[in-house]
Amino acid sequence: MSTDPKAGLRPETLAVAYGYDPEMGMGSVKPPIFMTSTFVYPSAQHAKHVHEAYFDGTGPLVGATNHIYSRLGHPGLDFLEKRLAAIDGAEEAVAYSSGMAAHSSIALAYIRTGDSVLHGRPIYGGVDMLYNAIMPQFGSHATAYLDGTDEAGVRAAADAAMAQGPLKLIIVETPANPTAAIVDLDLMVRIADEVGAKQGHRPLVVVDNTLLGPFAQRPIAHGVDLCMTSLTKYCGGHSDLLAGGITGRKELIDHLRMQRTTWGNHLDPYTSWLVLRSLESVAVRTERAMDNARGVAEFLRDHPKVAGVTYLGFLKEGTRQRAVYDRQCKAAGSTFSFHLYGGEAEAFRMLDQMKLLKLAVSLGGSETLICHSASTTHYAVAREQRLAGGITDGTMRLSVGLEHVDDLIADLRQALEAV
Ligand SMILES: Cc1ncc(COP(=O)(O)O)c(C=O)c1O
Repeated sequence: MSTDPKAGLRPETLAVAYGYDPEMGMGSVKPPIFMTSTFVYPSAQHAKHVHEAYFDGTGPLVGATNHIYSRLGHPGLDFLEKRLAAIDGAEEAVAYSSGMAAHSSIALAYIRTGDSVLHGRPIYGGVDMLYNAIMPQFGSHATAYLDGTDEAGVRAAADAAMAQGPLKLIIVETPANPTAAIVDLDLMVRIADEVGAKQGHRPLVVVDNTLLGPFAQRPIAHGVDLCMTSLTKYCGGHSDLLAGGITGRKELIDHLRMQRTTWGNHLDPYTSWLVLRSLESVAVRTERAMDNARGVAEFLRDHPKVAGVTYLGFLKEGTRQRAVYDRQCKAAGSTFSFHLYGGEAEAFRMLDQMKLLKLAVSLGGSETLICHSASTTHYAVAREQRLAGGITDGTMRLSVGLEHVDDLIADLRQALEAV
């Protein structure tokens, strides 16, 4: 019989209690918050052994639970990282102070002067800036593919990226923010293998799983190397914290965790506790939000002032995108875009009329949020690049929450009358 306490348990079950043992917290059913910046040692020799285990991975305390200083790690991070890894079906996890802290740490860990990065478009504006504005200042290059289900197109983009320099990272956001464009994870893993054979070292496939979250899509099961999630969104789930997580193989995560010690962008004890608690309900919260999203998307699809709705649940049978969706996603999510006839003026008139829906960026909270993509989340992305990614001047992003669906539709209906 397996001695692994998580053997045979489903992610929904692991999300409720895995990672924390009441014995660690004086019998408390829920984990305490260890509000401390530093940890005490029983002797000088013990202190040396703790440091040896942390920095060299040797000595008598390897594998023991010991802490040094909260920037290097603390009990709340241990609980959270164990749970995150278990939910994603990965060996290990590392948690950061935001989703962008996680993305930046991957870039800094793996990109050197002259290296190349391949990414999709559209992609979250912060990631776009990271690879197209910040990292090029250190001498790296970025190349984009536009359809992550088109094998020939992605291969051509990978070849173009390799022509610029050694391809080190393939960054995949699927579904992509804000249009819910889908990327084929199996294809990306195949392309990484091919690139590896061509250039002699395989690039890492990094998937941003923020938009569907850990229950509706399981990238690690498709063989990707790192799965990144902005925990600020569905996992946190209440728009009251910022956090990021990365899961993957032990050797990759160990490397990131060791570098986090120096970058200093770990997740603090209180926020670690909040995320751990929120993970318990993310499966049921997202189910409800996804039901609501379908109702809202159907209403918008049939509205005469709406030119189109990019919602995964509407992907047509027989298309490449639908085949990928059926293979890769368990549900359509609750963040999607709709495109108004007209442009910014029409969009702004509608937004200024909303009463229940909140005009705010971000997604995955209990409340429904709406924003005009071109003037907010993708403000810093050049217009032609936005258009290439399917973001028009009339594109609005919706993150559907947990309210009653009829109230959401009623608010959208009255606001659309102002357009
Ligand atoms: C897809 C995606 N990835 C990453 C991020 C960055 O996450 P954070 O805001 O937690 O830094 C966001 C934020 O909106 C996002 O939408």
